[in-house]
Amino acid sequence: MSLYDLAPTAEDAGIHIQNLTVSYDTDRGRFNALKNVTLDIRPRHITGFIGESGSGKTTLAMAMMNAIQPPGRIDGGAILLDGAGDVLQLRGEPLRRLRGRYFGFVFQASSNSLNPLKRVGAQLMDLGRSHGISDLRGLLREAKALAERIGLDGDRVLTSYQHELSGGMRQRVGLVFALVLKARILILDEPTTALDMLTQQAVLEIVRSIHQEQGLTTIVITHDMGVVAEMADRVVVMYAGRVVEEGPTFSLLTNPQHPYTQGLIRAIPRITGNLDDAKPLPGSPPDLATIPTKGCVFRERCYARTSVCDTVDPVPTSAHGDGLVMCHGVDAS
Ligand SMILES: Nc1ncnc2c1ncn2[C@@H]1O[C@H](COP(=O)(O)OP(=O)(O)OP(=O)(O)O)[C@@H](O)[C@H]1O
Ligand SMILES: [Mg+2]
Repeated sequence: MSLYDLAPTAEDAGIHIQNLTVSYDTDRGRFNALKNVTLDIRPRHITGFIGESGSGKTTLAMAMMNAIQPPGRIDGGAILLDGAGDVLQLRGEPLRRLRGRYFGFVFQASSNSLNPLKRVGAQLMDLGRSHGISDLRGLLREAKALAERIGLDGDRVLTSYQHELSGGMRQRVGLVFALVLKARILILDEPTTALDMLTQQAVLEIVRSIHQEQGLTTIVITHDMGVVAEMADRVVVMYAGRVVEEGPTFSLLTNPQHPYTQGLIRAIPRITGNLDDAKPLPGSPPDLATIPTKGCVFRERCYARTSVCDTVDPVPTSAHGDGLVMCHGVDAS
């Protein structure tokens, strides 16, 4: 099989997440890291996921690939992939094959995920073999071209062991692995944290070009609002395992509706442009063990709290034209 036979039949790979609930078993009990998440990820768009640490961004990305590991568990819901059905119904070999065809990913802290005992090139060949690619030379050529495109010396990288590469180089090698199989969906979880600003800019620009050239569905998870502003077509804001706001990037960043999104944006000097104007979010990030089970999960930290927030779960309200917000304080429009 050649590389290009891997392209799935569905041209556009949208992801439709329906009522997804995921929990983790901890020594304090079993807690929901995602609760009834319903969200459409649009094909051929770059979607940015933002939210404080622990809000469930990585869990959501892993669930999309049906890759939640114990002590995590998917408790319910569906993840419908255009052209492939419900990913959560697949197990074993069909799941592995689907992942290879559909998903390219760079895990959070992936700079440590290479095998220390094998050269990068050998690991690429393993990856190719495990997805049934017979033209391994072609795969290496493709990898080398990708590596050079993101500022690496392709020959050097392919013949290196992990310890011979810097953190920033490893992170970019992670990107090469994510892109080389030409999957339809690219998931990048904090892909550029080990890169200096200039390299980050260059790498993100190339990721955006590849996204466009290949018509990918791309998800970028980041704490860096600058990355979101520059890269994303749409933004998903998560809080305590819920999607609290979603919409086109410009509208969401310039006119945030949810008090949490407002606080998140105000807390970032790079966006407000003035360090003195940056205001930290009041309160602390949510702890799964103490998230209220009824009503709005953000109410303890919210300036706009009213009595209804204590008892009634907010429902999605239309916002930003074709987006949504989950807040009692926002009037349906
Ligand atoms: N393996 C695990 N065992 C127990 N709890 C977990 C595990 N992985 C995640 N969690 C919990 O699930 C919640 C969501 O975690 P997740 O890693 O998805 O957040 P995140 O938004 O990606 O955070 P960050 O920005 O720090 O990467 C957190 O409360 C976290 O403590
Ligand atoms: Mg994470």
